[in-house]
Formats: sequence, C-alpha cells, structure tokens
Amino acid sequence: MAKKIPQPTIPPRERAFLVGVDLRERKQLLALEDSLAELALLADTAGVDVVGELTQKLDRPHVVTYIGPGKVEELKALAEETLADVIIFDDELSPRHQRELEKAVSPNIRVLDRTALILDIFAQHAHTSEGMLQVELAQYEYNLPRLTRAWTHLERQAGGGGGRAGSTGGVGLRGPGETQLEVDKRAIRKRISHIKHELEKVEAHRTRYRAQRKRSRIPTVAIVGYTNAGKSTLLNRLAKSEVLVANQLFATLDPTTRRVQLPGDDLALITDTVGFIQKLPTSLIAAFHATLEEIAEADLLLHVVDISHPNALNQFQAVQETLEEIDASHIPMITALNKADLLRNPENAREILKAFPKSVSISALAGTGITDLLHLMREELFEAYTSIHVRLPYKQGALISLFHELGQVERVEHERGGVVMQGRIPGRLLAQYAPWHIAQIPAEQTLEINDEEDDLEEV
Ligand code: GTP
Repeated sequence: MAKKIPQPTIPPRERAFLVGVDLRERKQLLALEDSLAELALLADTAGVDVVGELTQKLDRPHVVTYIGPGKVEELKALAEETLADVIIFDDELSPRHQRELEKAVSPNIRVLDRTALILDIFAQHAHTSEGMLQVELAQYEYNLPRLTRAWTHLERQAGGGGGRAGSTGGVGLRGPGETQLEVDKRAIRKRISHIKHELEKVEAHRTRYRAQRKRSRIPTVAIVGYTNAGKSTLLNRLAKSEVLVANQLFATLDPTTRRVQLPGDDLALITDTVGFIQKLPTSLIAAFHATLEEIAEADLLLHVVDISHPNALNQFQAVQETLEEIDASHIPMITALNKADLLRNPENAREILKAFPKSVSISALAGTGITDLLHLMREELFEAYTSIHVRLPYKQGALISLFHELGQVERVEHERGGVVMQGRIPGRLLAQYAPWHIAQIPAEQTLEINDEEDDLEEV
C-alpha cells in the first residue's frame, strides 16, 4: 500500500525578488539600501520570503520598463534562478510599467510595487468595518487602471489575507459592444462609488462623535509616529490597556481612544492610530481620510520616535511630511524618544533630546520616563498658550465666551454676522477653533460652514 505523505498545513510562503532604483532626479529620505531593507520588512510582514534583490542607479525611470533593458534581462535571469513567484519594486510603478515588466520577465511571475505590498498588509490588518472599507476602496482605486485581463486576475492581486476587493463587486451583464474588461471596470466603478457613500456615512458619525467629545471639554491627544515606533505600547502603558502590540509594520490600523489621567485631576483622551512610512502612497492617505482626521483634529500631537533606530531622524522627517500632507502640521506637538532602553550609551539620549524641542526620552516597554511625559503633556494642554486669529460667527456664542473666559484676548472686531478675535488660548482648546482660523477660510465661506457644523452639533 502506498505510504501517505503528510501534507504541510501551512501553505509555503511566496518567494519575492526585490528591486530598488536610485533616481537622481528624486529627493529620497532613506538611502537605497535602507529603503530596500524596509521593503524586505514589509514583505516579511505580508508573509512573503525575500529570495534576492537588484538595484540600479538612473537619472529617470525608463519609459517602458522603469529599469533599463539590460537590467530587465538581468532581473529575468535572477528571478528564474531564485524561483521567485513575485517581483516587488520599491517604488510605485505605473500600470504600463507593471504590464511591460510582466511581459518582459515572465507571464508566470507577478510584478508588484511597494504600494501593492502596503495595501496587502493593510488588508490583513484591518478589523473594523470602517478599516476594511477604507482598504477596499484603496485596493479598487489602485487596481482599476491596472485591470487588463479578467476579474480573476484582480482578485489574485487584491485578495491579500483579509482583502475583499474583487469579491463583492459582482460582474454585471455585458452591454452592447462591451468587452468583459469594460464590464469589469464598470462593476468596479459602481463598487467604488458605493464604498465612498458608505464611508461618508461613517465619517458623519465620526464627526458627530468628535463634536460630542469636544463638548465634553476633555482635550484630545493623537499619538503619531513611524510604523513600529512603539505607539501602541505607549498607549497601553499610559492607559494601562491592552491594545495589540506586535513587532510588525502596521500592526494597528484602526484608531483606538483611551482616557488617561494626567498629573493632578486632569484627563486627556489619547488616540493611537495608523503608523506612517516613507513613500506612503497618496491613494492610501486619501482612502484613510476619516481615520487621519482623528489626527488632524487633535488638540496635541504626541510624536513617538524609535530613537534606537539607525534612521530615526529620517523617520521623524517622513512623519512630519505626512502631517503636512494631512494638514496637521499646525497642531502643537511634543516628542517621545522611545526605546531608550536599547541605546548602548544612555548619555546619547541627552544629546539627542537637545535636537527636539519639547521632548522626553522614554521606554514604553520598561516604563521609564512616563511620569515626565505625562507632566509635559499636561503642561502643553493646560498651561501653554498658543496664538490664534479667528473669525467666529455670532452663532458660535459658546466659543466667543470661552475665548473671553479662558484665553487672553488681544483684539476684537465686530463684523456683519460675526466677530474677529485675536489672542492666545490654552493648547487644549485649539482644535475647537480650527474651523474658524482666518488663514484657512475666506470670510464668505465661514458662515456657510458654520451652518453645517451647527446642524451636526444638534443631531
Ligand atoms: P504599528 O502598529 O506598526 O504602527 O506599530 P506601533 O508604533 O504601534 O508599535 P508597537 O507598540 O506595536 O511596538 C512595536 C515593537 O516595538 C514591539 O515589538 C514592541 O514590544 C517594541 N517596543 C515598543 N516600545 C519599546 C521600548 O520602549 N523598548 C523596546 N526595547 N521595545 C519596544
């Protein structure tokens, strides 16, 4: 009788070959080898084994294949030799580059890019319905211009672990003269608009919830930082809670808010949310709009930096750039230099601290520096004052009184329908005045927005 060979219960991991390009025309935050090392970590998080890598220096990408024709030949040989299932580029490839590369290398080896990989990880890590909708939207938007064959191809690309793109759209009936591809694209567009509609509903709910929190007058702090910096570990430490901590990139996607006691009797609501990374695709930022608003509307940002990482400063910079992209760079910020326990010479921490204003060195894991951090947070929220210049419609009577009551008013001018106020207010109140900031909104629009906001507050 033939002996039954036991089958592995876990399917073998896919084999990935990485490609990095040093483009002279582009300013890069990380050196090529560091960026590739990060791509390898992303691949590992996505459940893929890295079997080799190839790099090229170029003035600009090759029009057809991104890398030059000679390199394509080299890549083909190496990918076949290492039995790669997939080739992953460290940059975002255009649909044409992707197609041409697949044609030139082998129809059996998929060509993906950094964005697809990040999307795959996001798909595996999204747990709430909002998170899943956001990832699904980003996947469809990424895949739509890349759809060249039947739907099944899309499913393979977008499926990931928990990804659902492609599985729920349903292929509609073919219209006169329409190819299957056109039918598929039509179905995807329909699904995209459905998801956007669903997300708008979630966003409206979130806005109402935030309005409630603002009324409760408990200030909000958003933890921001590079992926894996230790944000969730810190939130757990501060709130004595159990948010998922993992030595993985993008372990946390969905925002989690906890109430934290500051020194004295003051409270703060602290939110941990999605981590940032260099070359974060803009399509993802757009899809995560609702989640990122949690950051843009906070009273204070707590930037967690993994100070033991060799690229800590570049990571800090990448986070700052993303904060600018989501219009959150004006919010007051304090910095926690985390993982200080891993520094070989703790004296270094003192030197590094000097480079960051309003910073403390901590170890979220060991619990050191946490009291100093809480004091700094309290100081920023309750004692430090920030200058503002706002145009408040008379309907916002509560905000006008609050400014007089708790702020330092320097100038007041009455206009038709509202009042212009200039002065200083405690940091914790800043977010409430954000919609009325004069630099952001021209006078005519202010009153319209006011009406909408009032409706929301009343719901
Ligand atoms: P993302 O969800 O990927 O954005 O990560 P995160 O910033 O929330 O990081 P997380 O808290 O999940 O921690 C990442 C890894 O760093 C985990 O293995 C933690 O145990 C570890 N870590 C966090 N803080 C410290 C620290 O102070 N010291 C040391 N040695 N390790 C830490």
